[in-house]
Amino acid sequence: MSRVVVTGRIPRQAVDSLAAEHDVVAHDEEDAVSREALLEMVRGADALVTLLTESVDAELLDAAGPQLKVVANVAVGYNNVDVDACRERDVLVTNTPDVLTDATADTAFGLLLMVSRRLGEGERIIRSGTPWKWGMFYLLGQGLQGKTIGIVGLGGIGAAMARRARAFGMDVVYHSRRPCAPELAEELGATRLDLAELLRTSDVVSLHCPYSEATHHLIGAEQLALMKDTAYLINSARGPIVDEEALVQALRAGTIAGAGLDVFEQEPEVHEGLLELENVALAPHLGSATVETRTAMAQLAADNVLAVLRGEATLTPVG
Ligand code: DGY
Repeated sequence: MSRVVVTGRIPRQAVDSLAAEHDVVAHDEEDAVSREALLEMVRGADALVTLLTESVDAELLDAAGPQLKVVANVAVGYNNVDVDACRERDVLVTNTPDVLTDATADTAFGLLLMVSRRLGEGERIIRSGTPWKWGMFYLLGQGLQGKTIGIVGLGGIGAAMARRARAFGMDVVYHSRRPCAPELAEELGATRLDLAELLRTSDVVSLHCPYSEATHHLIGAEQLALMKDTAYLINSARGPIVDEEALVQALRAGTIAGAGLDVFEQEPEVHEGLLELENVALAPHLGSATVETRTAMAQLAADNVLAVLRGEATLTPVG
């Protein structure tokens, strides 16, 4: 039997499948485990199941010890895991791609509708008891039909967002390091553009690239200045891809029309400026937050651990 440490609360079924074969220690509480407790908890672990709120770095890996074989991150994004430090210690890293694609694209598209149709603003008016009545020009938003969406990062979630946009009658352009498969480009009717061209031509810019040093502040003042003053920025990927201060300035100045954000630069802190603006839809990192998706994510992480501890290949390795 191996020792598996689950560093945060995950669906029971995944913990049970691990416990059927191994000794499992789980931090079974909604609040994230403190760093101090985490360093203690991982000691002697053969496998870690981690959440994106934990920083899996050299210190944590060394606290676990040389027997550690795998870190299974319960997220598609793994910027919280120092993959190089894992590689140096022969520790495998896995993530949870695909199972959260639709849920995350749904959230991103929901944010787009919230901001473009001013649904958040409308809800705030009603909840605050502010008088309102139907009016021909009251809270007019912008329709999406016939507009262009620019997808930055055409992986699984980007493609799922593009499909939703197509269903709403939008045209699709994209920016990715490499051209997508010809069949996908054909299905989406999508043209590949460089980032500047995408920003200039899109009515909606939706971010779906991974976060890394290369994508830190990919969207800053210079890029926002290229966008149309009628355009919306949607970020359901990672907060630091956008320079939040520059975004607040652009929104205040009206150089873009609005933003829909599920992620933030200093999560869970949210820039004060965003809270004051009406033309922003905000969600607390809910991209994958459905019962079905979180269950599937946790099970995939558990299955990765089980595979490694049985001496089999990982299902969804990173890097
Ligand atoms: C992920 O999996 O990276 C998401 O951000 C979690 O919701």
